[in-house]
Amino acid sequence: MTKNKKLLKWVDEIAKLCKPDKIHWCDGSQEENDALIKICVENGSFVPIPKRENSYWVVSDPKDVARVEDRTFICSRNKDDAGPTNNWMDPDEMKKIMLGLYDGCMRGRTMYIIPYSMGPLGSRISYIGVEITDSIYVVVNMRIMTRMGKAVLDVLGEDGDFVPCLHSVGYPLVDGKKDVHWPCNEVKYITHFPEERAIWSFGSGYGGNALLGKKCFSLRIASVMAHDEGWLAEHMLIVGVTPPNGEKKYIAAAFPSACGKTNLAMMKPSLPGWKVETVGDDIAWMKFGPDGRLYAINPEYGFFGVAPGTSMESNENAMLTMTKNSIFTNVAFTDDGDVWWEGMTKQKPAHLLDWNKNDWTPDCGRNAAHPNARFTTPASQCPVIDPDWENPNGVPISAFLFGGRRSSVVPLVYEAYDWNHGVFMGSAAASETTAAAAGAVGKLRHDPFAMLPFCGYNMADYFAHWIQIGRMTFPNKLPKIFYVNWFRKDENGRFIWPGYGDNIRVIKWILERIDEKGDYVETPIGILPAKGAIDISGLRISNENLDKILSINKEEWFKEVQEMREYYKIFGNRLPNQLVEELNKIEERLKK
Ligand code: GTP
Ligand code: SPV
Ligand code: MN
Repeated sequence: MTKNKKLLKWVDEIAKLCKPDKIHWCDGSQEENDALIKICVENGSFVPIPKRENSYWVVSDPKDVARVEDRTFICSRNKDDAGPTNNWMDPDEMKKIMLGLYDGCMRGRTMYIIPYSMGPLGSRISYIGVEITDSIYVVVNMRIMTRMGKAVLDVLGEDGDFVPCLHSVGYPLVDGKKDVHWPCNEVKYITHFPEERAIWSFGSGYGGNALLGKKCFSLRIASVMAHDEGWLAEHMLIVGVTPPNGEKKYIAAAFPSACGKTNLAMMKPSLPGWKVETVGDDIAWMKFGPDGRLYAINPEYGFFGVAPGTSMESNENAMLTMTKNSIFTNVAFTDDGDVWWEGMTKQKPAHLLDWNKNDWTPDCGRNAAHPNARFTTPASQCPVIDPDWENPNGVPISAFLFGGRRSSVVPLVYEAYDWNHGVFMGSAAASETTAAAAGAVGKLRHDPFAMLPFCGYNMADYFAHWIQIGRMTFPNKLPKIFYVNWFRKDENGRFIWPGYGDNIRVIKWILERIDEKGDYVETPIGILPAKGAIDISGLRISNENLDKILSINKEEWFKEVQEMREYYKIFGNRLPNQLVEELNKIEERLKK
């Protein structure tokens, strides 16, 4: 147990509020994990997967399948500090509502206390959180996704600080009510108190709603800490790329949910002699090192990746990571005792149990797996995990990539003229929505820095923070900034660029540009590869298609600029002037 005063007091308070039958302090041991999984297998909520050692199949309530952005709140004291892109409620008002919901919400259940570290224990870039939950699913997922258990309490000591994260599925076992395979509540609140650095989540057991170390702490609360302390907490993958000449560089890339971070992080390069190694696939925390460069750690310990579309062709390294010690949520189950999802194999199985445990055949007209079905798997099992992935000092970042799904307008790749132009590019990111969040799919929306659902404060202040970061070191120490788009479509709705392993061709040009090499052309929107600068050796793509994704259409970009000017209006006078200046410069260049 612990002698930490803040922790003991908080646990006592929450126990009195939630009224669990039992309290369990998680030590993170294998025995503890085995015992918890045994409970779930016996009650039927976990099904062992015979073809994968120590792996389990779980299906959720069909109404609890993704992040709920409309139920996610930033409860800062002042509404303006949450900004125009976040839901806000007064913290006292929110607490009144949630205290009502939490009152007795764990009756008939065990309350689990999960001490965890985001980042390697003891790193100056890491932070500690403690999640209280009534969900065993959350405990065993947190054990994969974070460094969890007794070692964290040891680091915390008597006076160490942590971010308190309270979670309940909101399904007390009272009045003879029986447990269900996926308890949750119609009423959901995913709430953040940024000034207090606290998280309260109620009603959902799924992903980012419930594994509070992930989006709630590592992005929403951490982005506030990063703003106040002069560092960065970003929705970014981190990857090491080694060209045939052996000069390895690290890149961090921000793409919105289900837009290719996991794929890029573990890519199998199609160009001979190139090597890609994974540091992280979802979140990056970065601080300046003594040499004035930005150093990144992956605060996570596992991957919570999108299953559909993942195959030996599209992401072999992810497939090889999840062969054991993994949890599969909302995928389908095969007759021979394995998991399956759309896109895993070319040939569909003749029969499955779908993600609702109903019989499924290829002609039944339904998806076998939910589009946001996910695997939880230890990062250490990734065949291409980077040797420095747990380096407490982080890895030095040479480039930032922004991007998203844009079926038109946005070229394959372009480079910022300088830091502030790059910050503008991040602020202008937009993407077609995916199944990672509840709501419509395929709708174009602004998703600045891929942080729209994850920024814990006013997005305009976040832009200003990025501009400020650019002033904190020498310009030549800063990562170069690029925008990429793998998702351009032709008139028949097919992707023009082959993507996946062929994205190394774009990365190759990016690495050349970092070294001030690589042929380029200056355009109104930024620096594009010159004709022939992208290595297409061995690739089948028509010149016409290549030209299309490596050029800009001025008319379309004039519209893009007008649209951006409109969008910026929501930020009022908190929008940094520098961004308007960048927009003006682009417009001027377009007019020439
Ligand atoms: P979160 O975990 O939700 O934050 O997302 P992520 O960015 O890690 O998503 P992921 O890498 O799992 O992206 C999944 C989706 O993007 C799948 O539908 C993939 O097929 C698709 N995808 C990834 N890379 C490419 C690519 O280069 N080209 C195309 N066309 N699709 C891609
Ligand atoms: C995302 O939606 O960006 C995810 C999955 O990475 S979740 O953890 O559910 O937020
Ligand atoms: Mn994500």
